[in-house]
Amino acid sequence: MRDIKVCVFDAYGTLFDVNAAARAVAQQPGQETFAAVWPQVSANWRTKQLQYTWLRAVTGDYCGFWQVTQDGLDWALEAARLDDPELRETLLGLYWTLAAYPEVPAMLGALKSGGLETAILSNGSPAMLKGAVESAGITETLDAVLSVDDVGIFKPSSRVYDMVGARFGCAPSEVLFVSSNGWDAAGAAAYGFETLWVNRSGEPMDRLPGRPARTAPDLTLVPQIVGLQ
Ligand code: LAC
Repeated sequence: MRDIKVCVFDAYGTLFDVNAAARAVAQQPGQETFAAVWPQVSANWRTKQLQYTWLRAVTGDYCGFWQVTQDGLDWALEAARLDDPELRETLLGLYWTLAAYPEVPAMLGALKSGGLETAILSNGSPAMLKGAVESAGITETLDAVLSVDDVGIFKPSSRVYDMVGARFGCAPSEVLFVSSNGWDAAGAAAYGFETLWVNRSGEPMDRLPGRPARTAPDLTLVPQIVGLQ
C-alpha cells in the first residue's frame, strides 16, 4: 500500500490500553475485593462509555468524553456493588495517564522516519488526549491530535472522519485509518479510508455496512503495511 500519506490512529483501545487503569488498581495492596472483579468492571466501564457516545450522537446530546467516561465508570461500579468514592477517583485519575501498548513508540517513529504524517483522531477530549500522549512520550511522533470536541459529535459520524481531510488536505484514499474498535474501523471503511482493524482479542468482525480491508493482531506491522521497511 504505497499511496498512503497520512496514518490516523484511534486513541483508546488502539494506542492506549483502556484496561490499564483497573489492572493497576487491582494490583495494589489492599485491593483484594476489586482484584476479584476488575475485569468485569473494566469491560462494563468501556462498554457503557462507548454506548453513551453512540446514544448521545443519535439524540444530539453531545458532551465531552470525560463526562461519558465518568458516567460509564459509575454504572460499572454500581453494577459491581462497589460504593467506594476513593476507588472511583483513583480509577478516573489513572485514565489521564493510560499506558500505551508497547509497540506504539517505535511504530510511530518508523512512520515519521519514512516520511508519513501521523495523527490521532479520537472521541477523547483535548485535555485527556494531551495527558495520555504526553505520559506515553509520543508527542514528537504525532503531527496532529484531533478531538471530536471540534465538531461536537462522536464517532462514527462522518463529520468526525471529515476532520482528517480538513487538517491534512488529503483524499480519504490517501489515509490509513487504524483502530482496534471494530465499529470504528467499519465506520472509517464506509467513509472511504483505507482501514486496518487491530483485532487484539480475536473478536468476530462487526456486521456493519463498512468492512475494514485489513486486520492485524497488534500495531507492529503498520509501517510494513504502508510500504515502509
Ligand atoms: C476513541 C475511542 C473510540 O479514542 O476509543 O475515539
